[in-house]
Amino acid sequence: MGLMPASERRAQIAAVFDQVADVYDNVGVPWFTPIAERLVGALHPQPGERAVDLGCGRGAALFALADAVGPQGRVTGIDLSAGMVGATAADAAARGLGQVRVVQRDAGEPGLPAGEFDLAVASFVVFFLPAPLAALRAWHRLLAPGGRLGLSTFGDHGAGWLDDVFGRFLPASAFRAPSPFDSDTGVEQLVGAAGFRRVRTETFPLDVVLRDVDHWQQWSMSHGQRAVWARIPAERHPEVKAAVAEHLETFRTADGTYRVGQSIRLTLADRDD
Ligand SMILES: C[S@@+](CC[C@H](N)C(=O)[O-])C[C@H]1O[C@@H](n2cnc3c(N)ncnc32)[C@H](O)[C@@H]1O
Repeated sequence: MGLMPASERRAQIAAVFDQVADVYDNVGVPWFTPIAERLVGALHPQPGERAVDLGCGRGAALFALADAVGPQGRVTGIDLSAGMVGATAADAAARGLGQVRVVQRDAGEPGLPAGEFDLAVASFVVFFLPAPLAALRAWHRLLAPGGRLGLSTFGDHGAGWLDDVFGRFLPASAFRAPSPFDSDTGVEQLVGAAGFRRVRTETFPLDVVLRDVDHWQQWSMSHGQRAVWARIPAERHPEVKAAVAEHLETFRTADGTYRVGQSIRLTLADRDD
């Protein structure tokens, strides 16, 4: 993965998110929306402020920002995936949110005017970017003096068991190199290196509640993890599912559902005044 040219990687990511745009965050597993709402809340958006949502997807953060800044504010969502942009722009129009616009852009090079935003938000996006430090520098330039940045990423890897299961079915070349997103400090250092100040971390636990292994698979196929399935030959998918089913038993609760915990990391920072 690390050796893939950036343009090819971007095209693959856009294709995966085009495929999932219709079902994304919509299979009965509250996940992206509660995370993004918590992230937006941590930034304390004010009525009339201008926000940019980088990698907005289906608008988990975008709509929370639009509510908070109100009709006097402005929210720009950008995403690489045409499917995400089209569906989210249609949702914004259906909700009558004149303060929202959604455009297809690369978050790594947003091409938006410098100093135009009070808030920059990227919820579960930055680890997809081929050059995250360069992207964070670009986001720093988008902010007005005193502007605030908020990122969400996976915290301590409660789902390490799932990496292990997928890992049994993936080629050795698929293994991820160590990255800044493996620790709070790693992300903080990256954000600091991009010029941000007062960099800090908040974490919170979020349980994924699943009915059964079919529900898990449906959820897994509805977001970025679909790219992992695509790398495993289809004839081996039932084996993956069986291995996951075995693991899920350790998360079974008294009501028969499975409750899988994950720590979520918010990284917050400011641009100097
Ligand atoms: C896991 S989703 C998160 C979406 C949304 N922020 C949320 O919280 O639901 C990641 C999103 O980032 C977008 N994305 C990935 N790489 C991108 C890039 N280089 N530029 C813009 N968007 C990108 C994907 O298309 C996808 O919509």
